[in-house]
Amino acid sequence: IVEKRNGIATLKLHRPDAMNALNQQLVEELDYHVEAIGKDQEIRAVILTGEKNFAAGADIKAMVDLDVRGAETFAFSHTFKKIYNLEIPTIAAIEGYALGGGLELAVTCDLRIASSNAKLGFPETGLGIMPGAGGTILAPMLLGVSKAMEMILLGSIVGADEAYRIGLINKMVEPGQAYSEAVNWANKFVDGAPVALQMAKKTIRRGLESGS
Ligand code: COA
Repeated sequence: IVEKRNGIATLKLHRPDAMNALNQQLVEELDYHVEAIGKDQEIRAVILTGEKNFAAGADIKAMVDLDVRGAETFAFSHTFKKIYNLEIPTIAAIEGYALGGGLELAVTCDLRIASSNAKLGFPETGLGIMPGAGGTILAPMLLGVSKAMEMILLGSIVGADEAYRIGLINKMVEPGQAYSEAVNWANKFVDGAPVALQMAKKTIRRGLESGS
């Protein structure tokens, strides 16, 4: 579900029956809208959210029968990279579960606000797979190698308080408040200096990529 209001684009994942598990169709729709937002000069901030749950991961039922070619087509990295590369600030507003590909999607954003009932983790290795859509790169950047190794290799799921403590989220709010707080932050970006925000974001990224 896409909403554009007062310079803020909200992309709301909407597969409630499957806890917003990411299937091909959902990611293709996400890709289409991210592409459009990237070209829309009116938009100054993006919020990714999912209502009751953010996303409980890649759609396991869809993955089970994939052959090698099917698995390659099912990959989400291309779309997630587009989100990562948006020039404007991006915020993930997280209620409920953000697991696997769902957490990988959240860490493509610049900032994460989660409600105190949120549960976050990378359970992939327990399923015989690995975080393949940027999690192995972005989690160590956010958490440091040691904590990222722990989360990914143990597949542990943490609550919002622990996620806040280790720097996985920027802010913890009361249940049901993640989106409204994200709008508060996004409004600051809308009222802010767009070139300064974009250059600051770009420069932080370049510094990380060059290691200096
Ligand atoms: N892929 C596909 N369907 C999923 C899903 C996923 N990643 N996560 C949840 N769902 C579906 C369930 O199959 C169920 O649908 P159904 O009733 O039609 O079978 C519905 O969402 C609700 O899930 P359910 O397991 O009944 O809810 P719960 O509250 O008991 O447990 C979770 C919630 C998130 C702990 C559990 O669904 C889970 O472990 N999901 C997989 C998480 C995961 O490993 N993600 C990484 C994938 S790479």
